[in-house]
Amino acid sequence: MKAYGVNELRKMFLEFFESKGHLAMKSFSLVPHNDNSLLIINSGMAPLKPYFTGAEKPPRTRVTTCQKCIRTGDIENVGKTARHGTFFEMLGNFSFGDYFKHEAIAWSWEFLTKVVGLDPERLYPSIYENDEEAFEIWNKEIGIAPERIFRFGKEDNFWEHGAGPCGPCSEIYVDRGPEYGVEGGPIADENRYIEIWDLVFENYEVDNVKSKTDLHIVGELENKNIDTGAGLERLAYLMQGKQNIYETDEVFPVIEAAQKLSGRTYGDDEAMDVRFRIVADHVRSALMIMSDGVRPSNNGRGYVLRRLLRRTVKAMRELGVTDPVMPTLLPTSKAAMEPSYPELNDTFHDVSEAAYGEEDAFRRTLESGTEIFDLAVAKAKESGSDAVSGEDAFKLHDTYGFPIDLTREMVQEQDMTVDEDAFQELMEQQRVRARKAREALGDLAW
Ligand code: ALA
Repeated sequence: MKAYGVNELRKMFLEFFESKGHLAMKSFSLVPHNDNSLLIINSGMAPLKPYFTGAEKPPRTRVTTCQKCIRTGDIENVGKTARHGTFFEMLGNFSFGDYFKHEAIAWSWEFLTKVVGLDPERLYPSIYENDEEAFEIWNKEIGIAPERIFRFGKEDNFWEHGAGPCGPCSEIYVDRGPEYGVEGGPIADENRYIEIWDLVFENYEVDNVKSKTDLHIVGELENKNIDTGAGLERLAYLMQGKQNIYETDEVFPVIEAAQKLSGRTYGDDEAMDVRFRIVADHVRSALMIMSDGVRPSNNGRGYVLRRLLRRTVKAMRELGVTDPVMPTLLPTSKAAMEPSYPELNDTFHDVSEAAYGEEDAFRRTLESGTEIFDLAVAKAKESGSDAVSGEDAFKLHDTYGFPIDLTREMVQEQDMTVDEDAFQELMEQQRVRARKAREALGDLAW
């Protein structure tokens, strides 16, 4: 197995599918075009929706892309698992009424085993529970033993994006080896068996009724489509023999820069390593989304960005750095990403000004939050309590952007606590409000 760089793997993928008659298209912007159902592009197929629905004619019936994506639904897992990133690049091959399951499966297998050279014994496909056609292809045409083919239900292996075309999926997992968890295939351990490719066979049409278990299929599509998504970072870290997506050649330089700033060593302490990984992930996401024109604000995409920048500054503080960090970290990330995205140069001047300004503003927020914090502590003490009220902690978090972890650390220094029950109750109320707002946005909101 060869340790290909991210840039190299991307090129190999696109060239492989070009050799199968696909048109390689450039990544679309992270900001959706003419699509109000989505805040930020979150998959390879998202910008291609008009071709899937038939609203627009594709430039060719076979297309391949490496699409910039951001998903923040799992932001709490970033840095803690090997595979959760907010920004990632999705490799995809797409068929608009052209080829279907046989070719999609055969080519994914050929790419993984012949082109990048993964050992077939480490690969495990999964199929949608009753997709016997996919089972037969994996078993008879590719030669995978039945016990190595896993069946998953609607939640895992059926892709739909609102009303319209949808269909069953087949996913491919890579076994990282016994040191990462128990035997038994992807059903047993998703940290040991990492999903790297999702093949979607779009052959049905659903109506607007949504349910976790039932499908509301209203018909079969005349033109069957293929939509696939392979995680470039996941493929890269597995090929490079690294532990996680934060240690690939496009991300690790930021960890190195954060080590220098903090004087700490990555690998010494798991709690600190999580912070290093958060920083590396978030700085890159912020760079990429800003380069596509987004600027920090209090709503929508701007708020996603603000949160990424603030979480970076906070994680660096927890690593012991209180001076500005963006002027070091952002250019480092840009240098690592530039070979893949030379256009980052065109906007970097404006992007960096905005990022540094946001960091300064947040540092001031932290300073003014400290005054409110001191008042909250004094109030608690006056009333004879050794806990800062949940209401004050929530106000610090919600109104002043003062992170709760910081509040907790600072009360601890005074031998005090936070009224966690009251704080959590207020957070829960806010989560319910946010969930309702997300649901109102439809299926593709995250
Ligand atoms: N659209 C599919 C996914 O994002 C390939 O997983």
